[in-house]
Amino acid sequence: MKKVRCGLIGLGNIGIHHFSYFPELEDAELTAICDIDPAKLKELKVPKDFDHATGATRLDEKIAKYTDYRAMLDSGKVDAVIIAVPHYFHPEMAKEAFRRGIHVICEKPVAITGREAREMNAAHANSNVVYAAMFQMRTDPTYIKIKEMLSDGTLGEVRRVSWIITNWFRTQAYYDSGGWRGNWTGEGGGVLMNQCPHNLDLFQWFFGLPKRLNALVYLGKWHDITVEDDVSVLMELANGATASFITTTADTPGTNRLEIAAENGKLVLEGGRLTFFKTEDSVQRILEQSDKGFYSASPEVIEIPVEARAHGHRFVTQNVINAILGKEALIAPGTEGPNSVELANAMLLSGIRGRTVEVPVCEDEFDELLEELRRDERQNAPDKVFDWKAYLDSFKG
Ligand SMILES: NC(=O)c1ccc[n+]([C@@H]2O[C@H](COP(=O)([O-])OP(=O)(O)OC[C@H]3O[C@@H](n4cnc5c(N)ncnc54)[C@H](O)[C@@H]3O)[C@@H](O)[C@H]2O)c1
Repeated sequence: MKKVRCGLIGLGNIGIHHFSYFPELEDAELTAICDIDPAKLKELKVPKDFDHATGATRLDEKIAKYTDYRAMLDSGKVDAVIIAVPHYFHPEMAKEAFRRGIHVICEKPVAITGREAREMNAAHANSNVVYAAMFQMRTDPTYIKIKEMLSDGTLGEVRRVSWIITNWFRTQAYYDSGGWRGNWTGEGGGVLMNQCPHNLDLFQWFFGLPKRLNALVYLGKWHDITVEDDVSVLMELANGATASFITTTADTPGTNRLEIAAENGKLVLEGGRLTFFKTEDSVQRILEQSDKGFYSASPEVIEIPVEARAHGHRFVTQNVINAILGKEALIAPGTEGPNSVELANAMLLSGIRGRTVEVPVCEDEFDELLEELRRDERQNAPDKVFDWKAYLDSFKG
């Protein structure tokens, strides 16, 4: 069978990881790499601790090298590309690939604003290619199991969701390392834009987008930064259930505890373990029909077995290759990318403007907010500003 010829744009932290697992993929070959920084194309250093078998460390001479991604797209050497550059460039690069009939795997978040993410979808709709987002947590058997238990009726109707996801600790040294991350001008957000897109994607994958939300968002509460590092959100889901989502980069030890209170009991994910507290009857029926005013539940405690198997980025890429070859449906369609962006935008808008917002948020209102935050950063925290134009110019001549 013909192999899918892949190009990789961006050879930073995650790009090198993508590069390293290519030898393990079936029906795919890496034919081209691109990085704006020519130094990255000379030698690739793949860290030894990557948890897959055959990390390639040397650059095969047969792999074409580009500093201009458009030249790579025009080369005729790639059928598909992985976009692994800062989010700022994702929309432009994806749209250029769609226009040329090239399949796209876009790193998360697919864009910084809901408007850009939806424009990507519109451009994709006019193409005939496969578009996927790198939401590799959707390949984690634990999250797959939760999704199954929500879909197959085991849990029944969701009544309440609480997700504390605070194991994203980052020090001041992380933020002081500079660059495009952790500022409004370079990255366009903090913990919601960088660390949480996977959790926000899983949230919407499990429960759909909420109808409305109310957030407390703190900018630089714990760190000397301009962007958000502490966020607590209350949401109303489509079925009327409430959900809370709490995150920060400032708690250590942090927590990842997802609790889903549902019609048939409570499912808890914590410490990687999944436990179902199954009530003897429907919670609402107990509430309505029990003659015990102070009913005390004695649920059956069921440890849900989760298959221990490898998962992660490689499996999303293999899935996309299979989808291109018509063998599989996509695990993480890029067209679902706007949802997590939309959630992050709504949380910021609510927290910073101090009011309840409907989801999806008005695109103009969010764009205006982001512009304001960028303007403030330029005026009041010039040392935090990241100038994309100067960055791009630094590679010219
Ligand atoms: N799925 C995940 O688990 C995961 C993990 C880390 C990062 N990411 C995402 O991947 C993206 C990249 O993150 P990173 O940590 O690798 O960043 P990075 O800064 O380490 O690497 C980015 C690379 O892109 C190159 N680059 C920048 N602009 C370019 C351009 N215009 N053309 C070509 N190359 C360009 C840079 O030279 C650099 O080598 C981000 O969107 C990030 O959110 C996803």
